[in-house]
Amino acid sequence: MSAAPFRVGLLGHGTVGSAFERLLEERADAIAVATGRRPEVTGVLTRSRGSFDEIVASADAIVELIGGIEPAREYALRTLEAGKPLVTANKQLLSQHGDELFAAARANGSQLRYEAAVAGVVPVIRVMRESFAGAHIEKVHGIVNGTTNFILTEMARTGASYADVLRRAQDLGYAEADPTEDVNGKDAAAKMAILARLAFHAAVSLDNVPFEGIEEITADDIDYAKEFGLVLKLLGVAERRNGGVSVRVFPAFLYGGHPLASVGGPFNAVTLESQAITEVTLSGPGAGGPQTASAVLGDVVSVMSSPGMELDPIEQPQFLPEDQVESAFYLHLEVEDRPGVLAQVAHVLGDKGVSVKSVVQKGIGENARLVMVMHPVAEGSFRSALDEISKLDLMRAPPRAIRVIEEEFQG
Ligand SMILES: NC(=O)c1ccc[n+]([C@@H]2O[C@H](COP(=O)([O-])OP(=O)(O)OC[C@H]3O[C@@H](n4cnc5c(N)ncnc54)[C@H](OP(=O)(O)O)[C@@H]3O)[C@@H](O)[C@H]2O)c1
Repeated sequence: MSAAPFRVGLLGHGTVGSAFERLLEERADAIAVATGRRPEVTGVLTRSRGSFDEIVASADAIVELIGGIEPAREYALRTLEAGKPLVTANKQLLSQHGDELFAAARANGSQLRYEAAVAGVVPVIRVMRESFAGAHIEKVHGIVNGTTNFILTEMARTGASYADVLRRAQDLGYAEADPTEDVNGKDAAAKMAILARLAFHAAVSLDNVPFEGIEEITADDIDYAKEFGLVLKLLGVAERRNGGVSVRVFPAFLYGGHPLASVGGPFNAVTLESQAITEVTLSGPGAGGPQTASAVLGDVVSVMSSPGMELDPIEQPQFLPEDQVESAFYLHLEVEDRPGVLAQVAHVLGDKGVSVKSVVQKGIGENARLVMVMHPVAEGSFRSALDEISKLDLMRAPPRAIRVIEEEFQG
């Protein structure tokens, strides 16, 4: 007996859309055996073909792979309002218009699935939503941008400059011709907004996520920090702190024992922390047409296998001001080579309540510098110490500070 069709309307037929259609054709028989229905693409919309009205009217589910805000937003809302399931890989849309989309899904009892929007094929959304639905997630942190992870890994491996490695990443296809949103942290911030919303059941959007990128990172900082056993990553961190939440993206040094320290190249990884589960790290390829298409198809199969889904009510979180969040820091100071320099710097740090964990002196004469790692301190106190230090006449260049993640996990 042949399985009844499950009709998929496909919006967008570019890198991911065309890979999705191919994969769906390859896997349709196996999915029919598993679910009792055979998925098929019954309509495709691009700029030059198809009509959204006709596609949505005859589809059992819509897959949105256009990207960007409009017209993807309008089509997504109209799909959900029609009570039909929507699968999307669109991080911009979810991170900027999540409230509206989730409200439409709840109001109309429609499924909204978006595994491919964060960390490519790494199934972090499904794990949070299903496997850890009973866990109170305290913290989600991870490497959610493969381009920057490739660049930082290569800088550490070769000692080459940021600009040289970026060019190589572009030649190899790991960075776009315009890499701005990858390297400035905005892409990672959009993904962290999506993860934080799900982890904390809280209305988090891109606007609530301060982000810093890797454009100012220098090879010598990566090199000096190796002496402290530190590895540099662009991290997204979403955590509950002091009754509020903090969601941020910044370059950070990790100690070698941290589960994210060994994630190299274009890979992504996300660590989930909760008292009930301790910590779990998921990692895998972060992007690419076939990988993303596979995550999208997984969502389509979930839609086919599940009659509906409960979407958690969303609360308005209190976002902690950045200066109240505690962080440890690496600090690189180009200083004059004369007695008393370290004492002067230590005096300013002590005044602001910043305590030094380790310090090394590098170079002599015009190359003299102090490289230090601080204990965790409120970021506001550290910034105010930094302001004072930059005014000292012993400084030969502005100070360079990079956060350090203190946690280490052993075996
Ligand atoms: N590429 C990846 O590795 C990757 C990874 C993770 C997530 N994603 C996400 O997946 C989504 C798709 O990305 P992609 O790389 O496949 O994009 P893409 O190659 O640029 O393809 C976009 C598709 O959307 C169509 N489109 C654009 N504007 C349209 C409009 N106004 N009306 C109808 N169709 C329109 C395009 O039509 P034409 O064919 O007529 O131009 C094209 O078929 C995005 O949300 C992206 O963020 C991509």
